Amino acid sequence: MSQTHRTRLLIARKVPAAVANRAEADFHAFVTESDMDSASVVDFCNRHDVPAILIGKKSGLQAEHIAALPSTVRIIANASAGFDHMDVAAARERGIAVTNAPDALTECTADFTLLLVLAACRRASEYERIMRNGWGKSFGMTDMLGTRVNGKTLGIVGFGRIGRAVAKRAQGFGMRVIYTDVRRADAALENGATFYASLDDMLPQCQVLTLHVPGGGVPLMAKKEFGLLRKGAVFINAARGGLVDEDALYDALTSGHLFGAGLDVYQHEPNVDPRFAGLDNVFLTPHMASATIETRDQMGFTALDNVAAVLDGRAALNPV
Ligand code: DGY
Repeated sequence: MSQTHRTRLLIARKVPAAVANRAEADFHAFVTESDMDSASVVDFCNRHDVPAILIGKKSGLQAEHIAALPSTVRIIANASAGFDHMDVAAARERGIAVTNAPDALTECTADFTLLLVLAACRRASEYERIMRNGWGKSFGMTDMLGTRVNGKTLGIVGFGRIGRAVAKRAQGFGMRVIYTDVRRADAALENGATFYASLDDMLPQCQVLTLHVPGGGVPLMAKKEFGLLRKGAVFINAARGGLVDEDALYDALTSGHLFGAGLDVYQHEPNVDPRFAGLDNVFLTPHMASATIETRDQMGFTALDNVAAVLDGRAALNPV
């Protein structure tokens, strides 16, 4: 850990060098070299009376951790959009501000979602493995066919920043976009997408379905919901693994009900249910949708901006 000057800040997850440098220039920063766990964060805060903490998934703070923090803590900044790794209500009760980084990763997550759509529809995983195994056999007109993307109907669950950014890209690929959310978006934001008030009503219309809602709570996609998708649909998830009943997804993939899936998130990360790795019709990535140099820097900078605002006595920029 390195220490410099000014107000104390614990950076409890490993951040990009540019973020660490700025933290050290702007704060009396304690910058960890590897992701800290929750107990170490609590212990560190008590020993150093820090007013601000930047956390990640491994250093997620549940109610018992928050109760054990010293009264000096004024802000817990997440360098991520998701904050399902912490108990926001418990922090609020103690008067601790909680922030996230909602804008920083919108574009790259949307790009990656389209990567999953294209890869799952066009069998990228299988084609790539064929090439790595030396190819050696020409394919005929009926062999190894994918399913076309352009002209298909994409259903988006959650029409927030990322959902809308996905819609824009999908329209560029000639897809028809429909969406569901708790309320209908303004026409300008809707940009030609069709609103469905209920997920169950939307599902039968989708040829490709993608989730863009926060995690937590019961799975949104379980046996009944997969059953409502039409046969041959493609399922995409770059949001949170907990949104999906993985047994139901596996059944839908192996029964032939779904054409395929593109998955970046899983119920038990960093472990993936090994059954998925055995399926040809699934394109799998290890929770990397926001993983670009530019976005990871911006996620860290956003967390620092929030810390600066709260410690300066201003309102948090991205309160959750
Ligand atoms: C987020 O920020 O929530 C992304 O999933 C990366 O963790």
